[in-house]
Amino acid sequence: MFRHVAVIVFLGYALAFPEASERSRRSTTENPLVTTPLGQIKGTVMTSRLGKPIYAFRGIRYAKAPVNELRFKPPEPVEKWEGVYNATEDGPLCPQPTTDPVSEDCLILNVYSTKLPKSAENPKRSVIVYIHAGGFYSVGSTSYWAGPNYFMDQDIVLVTINYRLGTLGFLSTGDKEAPGNNGLKDQVQALKWVKQNIEAFGGDPDCVTIMGYSAGAMSVILHMVSPMSQDLFHKAVAMSGSPLGNWPIPHNQLDLAKKQAKFVGCPDDTAANIVKCLKTKPFNELGESLPKFKEFANDPVMIWSAVIEPDFGQPRFLTAHPIYLIQNGQFKRVPLITGLTEDEFGPKAFAVINNETLTKEINSEWEKKAPIAFLYERDTDYSKSISKELKTFYLHDKPVDQSQLKPLAQLYADSVIGFGVNRAAKLFAEYSNTSVYYYRFSYQGRYSLFYTPESNNTVPYGVIHHDDLMYLFYVSKLFKESSPTEVEMVSKLTALYANFAKTENPIPAPSEKLDNVKWEPFTLKEQKYMDIGNKLQMQEKLYEKRYAEWEKLFPLGQYSKNKQSH
Ligand SMILES: *[C@@H]1O[C@H](CO)[C@@H](O)[C@H](O)[C@H]1NC(C)=O
Ligand SMILES: *[C@@H]1O[C@H](CO)[C@@H](O)[C@H](O)[C@H]1NC(C)=O
Ligand SMILES: *[C@@H]1O[C@H](CO)[C@@H](O)[C@H](O)[C@H]1NC(C)=O
Ligand SMILES: *[C@@H]1O[C@H](CO)[C@@H](O)[C@H](O)[C@H]1NC(C)=O
Repeated sequence: MFRHVAVIVFLGYALAFPEASERSRRSTTENPLVTTPLGQIKGTVMTSRLGKPIYAFRGIRYAKAPVNELRFKPPEPVEKWEGVYNATEDGPLCPQPTTDPVSEDCLILNVYSTKLPKSAENPKRSVIVYIHAGGFYSVGSTSYWAGPNYFMDQDIVLVTINYRLGTLGFLSTGDKEAPGNNGLKDQVQALKWVKQNIEAFGGDPDCVTIMGYSAGAMSVILHMVSPMSQDLFHKAVAMSGSPLGNWPIPHNQLDLAKKQAKFVGCPDDTAANIVKCLKTKPFNELGESLPKFKEFANDPVMIWSAVIEPDFGQPRFLTAHPIYLIQNGQFKRVPLITGLTEDEFGPKAFAVINNETLTKEINSEWEKKAPIAFLYERDTDYSKSISKELKTFYLHDKPVDQSQLKPLAQLYADSVIGFGVNRAAKLFAEYSNTSVYYYRFSYQGRYSLFYTPESNNTVPYGVIHHDDLMYLFYVSKLFKESSPTEVEMVSKLTALYANFAKTENPIPAPSEKLDNVKWEPFTLKEQKYMDIGNKLQMQEKLYEKRYAEWEKLFPLGQYSKNKQSH
């Protein structure tokens, strides 16, 4: 039986988890060896859910260690090595508050394959590159966060990547000291590594799907519009995350740089002084200052973001607002799967409603706290009008209290994830000529990342952020391996995404295993989506009234002048 253990801080809010069981390191004594253009790499053998041997190469360095003079600099490619690179263990996470191993030298990736090339024969399987979640400030690609055990029963090659987080990955001072986006430039470097080396693992460099969750999904959509990433992938999956919603995308985050400087005792007067002093601080001091950035009830849930990089002569990851780039055709046209879970960030409502202090604060200072919780611009007349409208639409102008749990949960769900994802589906359906597959994940399993306090933390609140990911990746950090009740969902979900990676279609031919249904692409007219519940079912017009409210508050017309925010 699961025992409920300490509450941990995840994506900015506290959740209770069943205790993790044994980790998935069942390696044998046999060590697979591959020869890449950079040098030889030795791995281990892990085992898939159905018992296939997985050739696992973990902790492979894809960029030079971003330390000392390279701290706050874009990533630099690795050089060739002599001898055999030891990729037999999980590498570190990038610095963050955790008891797991962390290191600033964290630019590593992991490759999993079940068929390595043999002499002249290369299986050239479709490749999925997974970009992890964690709000751009937590978690990582290690096998205890993103275990390959489920996915590798499909005939694909899986790559999971680390990228710099928090201040070390996203410091952006608005001048050439730190133009920003280094964490995203790390991802580009990892994708370049995949293109150059994946054949050695039996992967096809011309068939690469980038897949991301939450902050990773935002990253996926940013790669679609980034001039740096255009040659590096062929299909995209953005799960429960999008940079196209209410969250402003600034030209810099000097305000955060100044906060970071203060938190570790650095001067905050000029960008040059901030960067100079932050370079001297131990990496763990920077990683561990994360909680100090929180302002209200563990919000904002997202802190660092991509920035629209002004041109200082540096290679730029993001040159304009992504909505502007999409509207102007400046993006990579690739088939896309995007969607969300039924309840997303709904449980955040509990934190506010079950805490008298917070309830009081949000009621007395709605215009001040709402933009922090629901992620839109602050302190302007526009901001005030949004706060007012949202209060009317979701709460019928009544104060927050126990009776408002459901509408407040919907407000969190729509503001943090839902609206942005819906807008992504609509924009790509309008401006791209490739298929957009839209979904809602509503399957309620026994386990969740949140159980209601009323049930003494035993009954899931609903289907929340990350509740689908546990059927795709084995997260031994948090869960036991899926038991018979849930394996059907493991087998369905891994099949849908592997099909997409291989054929550009999640259901190339209806089959009993996938409930004999056809997944029809999303169009603006019909707005069809796949409801992934006990059965797969096509439905239409997801949460239509709720998203119409957001469309009204954040009209698309305002992006046509390449403005920086709203
Ligand atoms: C490779 O790394 C593992 C784990 O750190 C270690 O046990 C092993 O001895 C290393 N092998 C070599 C050849 O360095
Ligand atoms: C309620 O929230 C306040 C402010 O964040 C916090 O200091 C306090 O510990 C919380 N109370 C409980 C019972 O969780
Ligand atoms: C979509 O448009 C692009 C650019 O106009 C073109 O190169 C591509 O072949 C088109 N793809 C499809 C599937 O029509
Ligand atoms: C709630 O769960 C805890 C831990 O499992 C247990 O010790 C406690 O007795 C339970 N309380 C109630 C009211 O069921």
